[in-house]
Amino acid sequence: MLLGVNIDHVATLRNARGVGYPSPLEAALIAETYGANLITLHLREDRRHIKDADVFAIKQAIRTRLNLEMAMTEEMLANALQVMPEDVCIVPEKREEVTTEGGLEVVGQFEKVRHYVGELQRAGIRVSIFIAPDLAQIQAAYDAGARVIELHTGAYADAENHAEREHELQRIQTAAKFAADLGITVNAGHGLTIHNVAPIARIPQIVELNIGHSLIAQAVFLGLPEAIRQMKEAMYRARTTVSA
Ligand code: PXP
Repeated sequence: MLLGVNIDHVATLRNARGVGYPSPLEAALIAETYGANLITLHLREDRRHIKDADVFAIKQAIRTRLNLEMAMTEEMLANALQVMPEDVCIVPEKREEVTTEGGLEVVGQFEKVRHYVGELQRAGIRVSIFIAPDLAQIQAAYDAGARVIELHTGAYADAENHAEREHELQRIQTAAKFAADLGITVNAGHGLTIHNVAPIARIPQIVELNIGHSLIAQAVFLGLPEAIRQMKEAMYRARTTVSA
């Protein structure tokens, strides 16, 4: 199972002081050296963390692959076509949100999604859609041409009790199977931590997890190499041990 390390919040820390450190580029290179299979970043419309210059510098320097998360706007499309990341993950974006709150509404804006998926794919970029574990949305993503999705694990991560968490986990399990049966590559992410990653990592159809905030938070105490090592170990253990 692959780990995409999302380094947005290294930029959050840098921007808090308006200085040049910590460097997202340095974080990307360290993450790769210590086990990240890809580097994920989100260039938000308001540039609150990652800036345009970070994206270009990181794309030039990394040796794995860049997964650029972007909203469906013409500005972001033009930007992606200039940067040419290996992957783009299309995400919904609201200016006032603290983080990406839900999956992309594909059913309700089908033609728009199809347009953006097509433009990016024609350029040779692999396109994923960040989506709720909802079968109608997944079918629409497939019909719009997407062959990769990232299931939003936020509702699972934020569940307030065991029953709610199990319910959300089941939705993700069902969605992952449905998508894989359609021939879609299934990724997942959002809100995952060392404590809640195992049940998600155990879902056999999921091939990649994208994890940011908790990894960077752990890195404050442990350093990025150790935070990544512990996360990969938790993912690997979940895959290789029988669940209780
Ligand atoms: N995947 C996508 C598509 C996201 O938008 C985000 C947040 O930027 C993440 C994964 C990572 O979420 P978190 O920072 O909660 O680990």
